[in-house]
Amino acid sequence: MSVFKFPKILATNPQIEFISNVNFNGYSLSVLREDTIHPKVSGNKYRKLKYNLIEARKLEQDTLLTFGGAYSNHIAAVASAGKMHGFKTVGIIRGEELSEKINENPTLTFAKSCGMELHFISRTTYKMKDSLEFKATLKSDFGDFYLLPEGGTNQLAVKGCEEILSEATKRYDYICVPVGTGGTMAGIVEGAQPHQSVIGYSALKGTFQKELVQKFSEKQNYSITDSYCFGGYAKIDSSLVRFINEFNDQTGMILDPVYTGKMMYGIVAMMKNKYFEKNSHILAIHTGGLQGIEGMNQYLKKKNAPQINL
Ligand SMILES: Cc1ncc(COP(=O)(O)O)c(C=O)c1O
Repeated sequence: MSVFKFPKILATNPQIEFISNVNFNGYSLSVLREDTIHPKVSGNKYRKLKYNLIEARKLEQDTLLTFGGAYSNHIAAVASAGKMHGFKTVGIIRGEELSEKINENPTLTFAKSCGMELHFISRTTYKMKDSLEFKATLKSDFGDFYLLPEGGTNQLAVKGCEEILSEATKRYDYICVPVGTGGTMAGIVEGAQPHQSVIGYSALKGTFQKELVQKFSEKQNYSITDSYCFGGYAKIDSSLVRFINEFNDQTGMILDPVYTGKMMYGIVAMMKNKYFEKNSHILAIHTGGLQGIEGMNQYLKKKNAPQINL
């Protein structure tokens, strides 16, 4: 096994891109381009994996095992990082029916091309994935492994996400971030300055992620909204697709429809509603996830609906 070292491509300092001084209320909006870290191990995926891979290496584990759905950014990132750093990877995928359709699914095709061993289980079994019994079955099927939870959130992932913030982000009044499990937000809340408010935009119904944030941080300078989740996880409509395409036309920046597109839609809506304090500097974290667009476009094409421009 090679000595662990992140290649240069994973060690860049992402730039903050200024978008605009918005005409009303003196707002400015900037984006921290975490998506530019790496095409597949981008944004919060890189941050979440960094210390976990170091730990796996320290424990002399040569296999990473994790869980995910059909279009999971986390599955693509683990497969790619595993290939780069010489780990075997196993992906436990939700939905037995997908085993017949790997070639039709860009995320699974990519994961397989990186050498990830894909293992498909029913949705019912998937719900039990965190039980001791199921973990014992995995051990007997795959031997020893380093387990990364679904979505990659654990203590080491939160530690990595704290590093999203730096000296350069201290001047912002609001830090906006998309929320799935809440792990990325927990790191940002921990790393934020006392004068900064962190706003999480839930990609799914509910704001239950607060519980997870509280598990990792005692700070209170944050809120989570699900007002821009478009009805639930991976649910979208034509107004969101139109927004993502217009944003791309105007800024040259691609947003994904599951996380960053919904966050940015929410930020713009809240700017229009004058939610933020007058003259505020707002920073949006682009957490990556662009690999999922191809899968979403396949779905939109089947429905004869407008697709996301790449
Ligand atoms: C691109 C992207 N942004 C944001 C998130 C949300 O991250 P978290 O689950 O840590 O809340 C995810 C999910 O992992 C993601 O893939």
